[in-house]
Amino acid sequence: MQRAETPEEKIKRLREEIRRHDYNYYVLANPEISDYEYDMLVKELEELEKKYPHLITPDSPTQRVGSDLTREFPPVEHRVPMLSLANTYSEEELLDFDRRVREGLNGESYEYVTELKIDGVSVSLIYKNGYFVQAATRGDGKVGEEITNNVKTIRSVPLLVNLEKLPEILRPEFEVRGEIFMSVEAFEKLNEQRALNGEKTFANPRNLTAGTLKLQDPKIVAQRPLDIFTYFLLGPESYESTQFDDLNYLKAAGFKVNPHFKLCKNIEEVLAYCREWERKRDSLPYEIDGVVIKVNSTVQQKKLGTIAKSPRWAVAFKFKARQAKTKLHKITWQVGRTGTLTPVAELEPVFLAGSTISRATLHNIDEIRRKDIREGDTVIIEKGGDVIPKVVGVVLSERRPDSKPVEPPELCPVCGSPVFNPADEVAIFCVNSQCPAQIKGRLIHFASREAMDIDGFGEALIEQFVDLGYLKTFPDIYELKNHRDELIKIERLGERSVDNLLASIEKSKEQPFHRVLFALGIRFVGAGVALKLAHRFKNIDALINADAQTLEETPDVGSKISESILKYFADEHNRQMIEKLREAGLKFEEETSSATGKLEGLSFVLTGTLSSMSRNEAKEKIIALGGKFVSSVSSKTDYVVVGENPGSKYDKAKKLGVKTVGEEEFLKLIEE
Ligand code: IVH
Repeated sequence: MQRAETPEEKIKRLREEIRRHDYNYYVLANPEISDYEYDMLVKELEELEKKYPHLITPDSPTQRVGSDLTREFPPVEHRVPMLSLANTYSEEELLDFDRRVREGLNGESYEYVTELKIDGVSVSLIYKNGYFVQAATRGDGKVGEEITNNVKTIRSVPLLVNLEKLPEILRPEFEVRGEIFMSVEAFEKLNEQRALNGEKTFANPRNLTAGTLKLQDPKIVAQRPLDIFTYFLLGPESYESTQFDDLNYLKAAGFKVNPHFKLCKNIEEVLAYCREWERKRDSLPYEIDGVVIKVNSTVQQKKLGTIAKSPRWAVAFKFKARQAKTKLHKITWQVGRTGTLTPVAELEPVFLAGSTISRATLHNIDEIRRKDIREGDTVIIEKGGDVIPKVVGVVLSERRPDSKPVEPPELCPVCGSPVFNPADEVAIFCVNSQCPAQIKGRLIHFASREAMDIDGFGEALIEQFVDLGYLKTFPDIYELKNHRDELIKIERLGERSVDNLLASIEKSKEQPFHRVLFALGIRFVGAGVALKLAHRFKNIDALINADAQTLEETPDVGSKISESILKYFADEHNRQMIEKLREAGLKFEEETSSATGKLEGLSFVLTGTLSSMSRNEAKEKIIALGGKFVSSVSSKTDYVVVGENPGSKYDKAKKLGVKTVGEEEFLKLIEE
């Protein structure tokens, strides 16, 4: 008779089994057992580990989701810098690249490996003796941030690999680089959910992936279906291989590798691959934005070396923005918060770049006339990376003979008031400031993220409250608490969400003066100008009493803005409304902090993305501390703040010898 398994043996067996099923399911997408059977195995393991906690190891499949919050993402220096790639946009440029490779290799023969360029977030993974020990973001290429706990939740990242399948030299320690991404389907599902909850939605799967990797709670990360394709294997200095072999090693060791890589004998085969995938990109369940072309031999890669931030042995071929042809049924006019009527193309729904598009902005009547866009036309629409779809042209051969040029409306489509067109502007306006569309637009702007940032107060809810008669002006928002009992009876709202909303409304009273000023929605006073006005005038009374000349002494404020401000405060209704908001407890004075003026006289340029704040927030901070935020680098720039995926400003800073600082250092500079 066989002896019974010891708990230790049983745990080991269960882990191996679960690891195999994870691999089959998450890497190969080819499960052998049902979800139920899988869950039972995990449950059995969990129970055993609970009983014998001393047997828990970090690589156990139960340890993917740690319970601790990640308070910070400590910096990690990359052993080998994480380079970015030079981009090419045409076949000629690819031929140039090939010519440079040929010249660099002095007549040696060479091959390429082509791979799909996954549109996600690059990551470095370190394995020691086969165990996953650390994950880091790219950061500025030299120093990234440690995100091990979040990456651990990704089921296609193996916690223990099959070392026997790797060359011996790699076994003690190796690094793998790859792209973390989210499928288009998962992205859309999550975004829909967020929209329903009144949370901000993400522009594309890449942004959602990046946002997810920076969450502090791995439990939430684990609920988001992140995935990975690995494409790079790094060993010690003396490790020699080829990209093609490395991809196969990665696969054999248990990593997920995109299946569409190809060994190409020459640049013609590379071009054919690029053409093929530009055509087929939409057939993939994830986003790709191009093809990556790499010289196959790592020995030749070394010979070719790198210039600046990108290797001479690899290049990216970027796809053109995707276009689609569809029917433009109708042009409707949308009324914004300032009364502007914006034409919108109502399209026959068409699938483009991962989402179905049924509307596109047409900007203004001049644009429509310039492109001669008419109702009933067949149009070409385009969608770049993050941008809103736009109509780029008309297929004239398909125009109906009876079609007529578009005329702007004479009456507001929402309230029926007359519209007017100021002499010096293209825009047309609804003259009725009480037009429901304007009321809603103003309130939506007031609550938005850059303004009062009232969490959970999205467009749909605001519109509903306006329609039900609870809201008309900004002060009404702060009166909502008096209607709590009625609000909780509104369908789909309930006590919890009403109380959460009321709490966020209360919290918004803490917003600084410049945000309140921006939230008022004074025409031409954007977030940046509001910040400068707040800084200069310190409080609302000084601003109300300022004349045109004083206003125009503020940086960025010209006669157009000063006129708009004077007009706004000349209106008795506006001044009364501000009084009510002040009584409600909103801030109409700039807070004085000891740090004010800390960055006085210093100018900053930002390149790349920061993980701890948006571009706008960084700008606000710099200006609030007395610094200058500029858009391009010159020798007069004091600091270039370098975030993730920096652009050409980084190179320029280096060239001009301007001081560059990483995110960490920048945070120290602005610390109050
Ligand atoms: S190779 C020096 N291969 O594209 C080698 N990159 O600008 C650089 N990417 O930062 C990376 N798919 O985030 C490589 N198959 C692939 C890739 C890929 C996507 C991303 C990666 C990198 C950027 C290059």
